[in-house]
Amino acid sequence: MSFLEACFAYVELTAEDLGRLGKAHAVLSPHFPAIAERFYASVWKDPGAAKVLSGPAQVERLRMTLVDWMSSGLLGPHDERFYEKRSRIGRRHVQIGLDQQYMFTAMTVVRTAYHDILHAEVPAEAAALLRAIHKLLDIELAIMVRHYQLDSEAKLVTRERRAQSDRITAMQTLTAGLAHEVRNPLNAAKLQLELLDRRLRRAIDDPRLTQPSELASKEIERLTQLLNDFLAFARPPELHLEERDIAQLVTHVGEVERPSALKKNASFDVTVEPESYLARIDAAKIHQVVGNLVRNAVEAVSDGGHIVVRLSGGDDAFVITVQDDGPGIPQEVQARIYEPFFSTKEGGTGLGMSIVHSLVALHDGSIKLDTGPDGTRFEVTIPRRQ
Ligand code: HEM
Repeated sequence: MSFLEACFAYVELTAEDLGRLGKAHAVLSPHFPAIAERFYASVWKDPGAAKVLSGPAQVERLRMTLVDWMSSGLLGPHDERFYEKRSRIGRRHVQIGLDQQYMFTAMTVVRTAYHDILHAEVPAEAAALLRAIHKLLDIELAIMVRHYQLDSEAKLVTRERRAQSDRITAMQTLTAGLAHEVRNPLNAAKLQLELLDRRLRRAIDDPRLTQPSELASKEIERLTQLLNDFLAFARPPELHLEERDIAQLVTHVGEVERPSALKKNASFDVTVEPESYLARIDAAKIHQVVGNLVRNAVEAVSDGGHIVVRLSGGDDAFVITVQDDGPGIPQEVQARIYEPFFSTKEGGTGLGMSIVHSLVALHDGSIKLDTGPDGTRFEVTIPRRQ
């Protein structure tokens, strides 16, 4: 149901009402110019309203548009074009910075004018005609006021997005500093450990000595992987575009990730359509995007679950979907899923999805998330560069 239909339903605007509006038009239309005159006289008297007016020439023009507004309001048709036209008026008022309260006070000027004229000229019918008119004018108000709300919502989203982007920049700076500080000592420790390991094996091949050294090596490897993730997040890399066969790339990532799915007895289907699809991309980054999504899917499914990876290439864009039949992502997690360092997994850095998001954005792409108790589906759409 559209906004307009919902308004009509709420105020119960009937076919009879529409007939009455037509009747009211016949009585009121000769008075439209005088009502418009009164309307702008009230505006001039109020400094807060008058300040958005540029001068008499504009008011002259506005009087004519108001006559047209009164006429089309009563006559209709009250269809979606009507809604669009009314929305334009609403947006215009928001744009010029007219305070919302004036919608209501100005409408009263029209309302009382209609009331006085109808009671004077068709007293027997006035009550019924006004009943229909009040419904119409309230719908007019609802539409105009809606655009103030839509505008403030849009501003809120922009502000929130800017704040989020500032937060991410601050985190990137901090992460970059930290990662650089850690990298050199970590590399040195790794080299020393390798040296120690080799010497231990050569001198005394005793598992009591080599095992701890192996474990320490594994931990260092894990730290190095974490560090690489931090660095990938800290400096969003540049795109190195080259023409590649995306179908081949997706199939390849599928093969790399397949063993971990099989370990969980999960079925793992990769379908590519068409079988060969060329586009200019940064292959390593798309690899990382698909790999991260597939690894998340594998982690999400339970034993014997299903994972489907699909590429569908179109003329203007290609879409990669990764779908699992895991338990879905809770609402509070969905809202923060691309936030850096936000993780619900033990031992996770919380950077995987943040990196996916930034790599997709780097390709001017978008991500859609559908999730529920039957599973989760990520749909990555990337415009095709040729
Ligand atoms: C019931 C309330 C009102 C109605 C039905 C109404 C109607 C209209 C219409 C039909 C337009 C032309 C929009 C377009 O298509 O560009 C308009 C624009 C405008 N209205 Fe209103 N208006 C109302 C209240 C007010 C009030 C109280 C002011 C106070 C100053 C005002 C000032 C303006 C201005 C400055 C413009 C822009 C004119 C331009 O583009 O040059 N309106 N309004």
